Amino acid sequence: MTSLRLRTAIMMTWGALAMVACRPANAFHDGGVSACNGCHVMHNSEEGQEVVIGGAGDYLLRAETASDLCLSCHATSLGSVLGSDPLAPPPEMGAGNFVFLLEDNLNDGADGVTNPINGDAAGHNINAPAHGIGADGTVAFSPGGSYPSHSLGCTSCHDPHGNGNFRMLRDAGPGLSWEPTFSYAAPTGIGLDIESAVTESNASHSAYNSGMSRWCGNCHQDYLSRHNQQQSGFSHRTDSALGGRASNYYSVYNGTDDPMGGNPATAYLADVPFEDLAVTTTSTQGPVNNSRMTCLSCHRAHATSGPRSGRWDFAVPLLSDDGIVSGSYPIPNPYPGPNQAPLCQQCHDRLP
Ligand code: HEC
Ligand code: HEC
Ligand code: HEC
Ligand code: HEC
Ligand code: HEC
Ligand code: HEC
Repeated sequence: MTSLRLRTAIMMTWGALAMVACRPANAFHDGGVSACNGCHVMHNSEEGQEVVIGGAGDYLLRAETASDLCLSCHATSLGSVLGSDPLAPPPEMGAGNFVFLLEDNLNDGADGVTNPINGDAAGHNINAPAHGIGADGTVAFSPGGSYPSHSLGCTSCHDPHGNGNFRMLRDAGPGLSWEPTFSYAAPTGIGLDIESAVTESNASHSAYNSGMSRWCGNCHQDYLSRHNQQQSGFSHRTDSALGGRASNYYSVYNGTDDPMGGNPATAYLADVPFEDLAVTTTSTQGPVNNSRMTCLSCHRAHATSGPRSGRWDFAVPLLSDDGIVSGSYPIPNPYPGPNQAPLCQQCHDRLP
């Protein structure tokens, strides 16, 4: 689209949106005409200066790429999704942090020194050159799917114009311009308020209500029905009920040193979340039989200092080993005591 035609399209959408009543959610993103200017350049010149518009497809954005634009507000405030130091990340709000993509080694396994795992394996790489982040250097497409890594950015997953969904996640259907069509609807859930200082704890956390695994399956289709972990050969059905055994075990688990001493009423562990319509951002109740396993029971959505965006480092024998070999940020141990086994144990009564 030429700049002129695009500007006309923006002006027309602007006019149409001005007539639509504002929805309450997403005061800025959904904020109607006054907000367009926060992200789009509406005129060719501003304050007498000629505004240089970059290459085709930049949508007259106020930054080099869409992700750079988002990060101009969200890097170190409003959720702080890209901290400035991978060894001192900002407080957790649920999605993890893109700063770990800047790590030079994430491998805390026995071969961590000889076989470093670069930060691009920390999670989803985003096209944000002004913030020093580029596409994944090792993986060309979404594993189990066909989404091209070089196109991955904030707007691959979030709708920049606000849509009332949990975290403005994209809906089923076509995305903006070239974006591939999503087959599965946005998940339902409630996030912590990014405009206040509240951070994640076992009593203050994202509430995952339904649909997260299917939504991840928009780009990781083959992982949806069956998540295969080839190295140790296990399969988890990631979009099904936990069942009695795992949910009972979760509900009484209180860490390796006290595996049966927990209380179901306070068993919710933000580091190993499950999906349930009854979960709220402040609920502490453990899971019941019908609570569901999701991709986010083991992964975070953005990135972590464990390879594969793990909620804990999948390669360490004890959580206290995290960060030692690689020198990367140690993911905090949610239980007291240094002998804590990996959090697979939250649902399993023996080391897998
Ligand atoms: C000019 C500053 C600004 C820019 C640029 C910006 N945002 Fe936001 N964003 C906000 C503010 C303010 C809020 C909180 C109010 C709201 O939800 O609208 C917010 C909220 C959000 C939320 C949380 C919504 C929720 O339900 O809690 C997400 C996700 C988000 N933005 C993503 C993005 C993405 C993706 C981009 C880039 C396309 C972006 N933002 C660009 C200011 C900005
Ligand atoms: C939070 C930032 C943000 C705000 C606010 C915003 N936009 Fe956008 N808009 C974007 C981004 C980013 C893209 C390009 C998406 C991409 O690159 O994936 C875009 C694309 C567009 C497009 C092209 C759509 C297409 O399908 O190709 C139009 C038209 C548009 N915006 C109009 C508006 C209007 C009108 C407003 C105000 C009501 C507005 N935008 C407010 C960030 C924003
Ligand atoms: C819009 C497409 C898209 C969606 C939606 C998506 N992913 Fe991805 N994912 C990708 C791409 C592309 C890659 C490979 C590039 C990269 O790792 O940066 C990837 C890589 C990954 C990786 C491997 C990271 C690494 O570097 O080894 C994990 C784990 C992952 N995704 C989990 C998830 C989970 C969990 C969800 C749902 C919360 C999800 N993805 C949703 C596109 C997507
Ligand atoms: C692969 C999909 C994906 C990409 C890419 C992505 N997000 Fe998110 N984002 C999510 C999901 C899913 C959540 C909800 C995570 C949760 O609560 O566990 C989220 C949460 C958030 C939040 C709420 C705060 C938090 O830490 O939970 C903000 C703000 C946000 N994203 C902004 C961004 C920005 C800015 C970018 C680009 C720099 C981006 N996202 C890229 C999927 C994505
Ligand atoms: C949120 C709970 C939960 C977490 C966390 C979890 N699992 Fe499971 N796991 C289950 C459930 C439920 C099953 C039953 C099979 C199914 O329906 O997918 C299962 C099945 C398995 C199986 C197949 C054999 C069996 O016992 O049925 C293996 C092996 C396994 N898990 C290993 C792991 C490993 C390794 C981790 C950590 C990386 C892990 N699990 C984390 C809930 C969990
Ligand atoms: C029980 C925990 C668990 C659940 C649930 C889970 N994963 Fe994984 N995932 C893992 C582990 C462990 C690895 C690392 C495997 C390895 O390094 O070989 C992994 C690796 C990945 C990778 C990287 C694969 C690669 O080739 O690098 C992707 C992508 C991924 N998972 C996506 C998903 C998606 C999408 C879902 C939901 C449909 C999901 N995972 C659910 C534990 C889990």
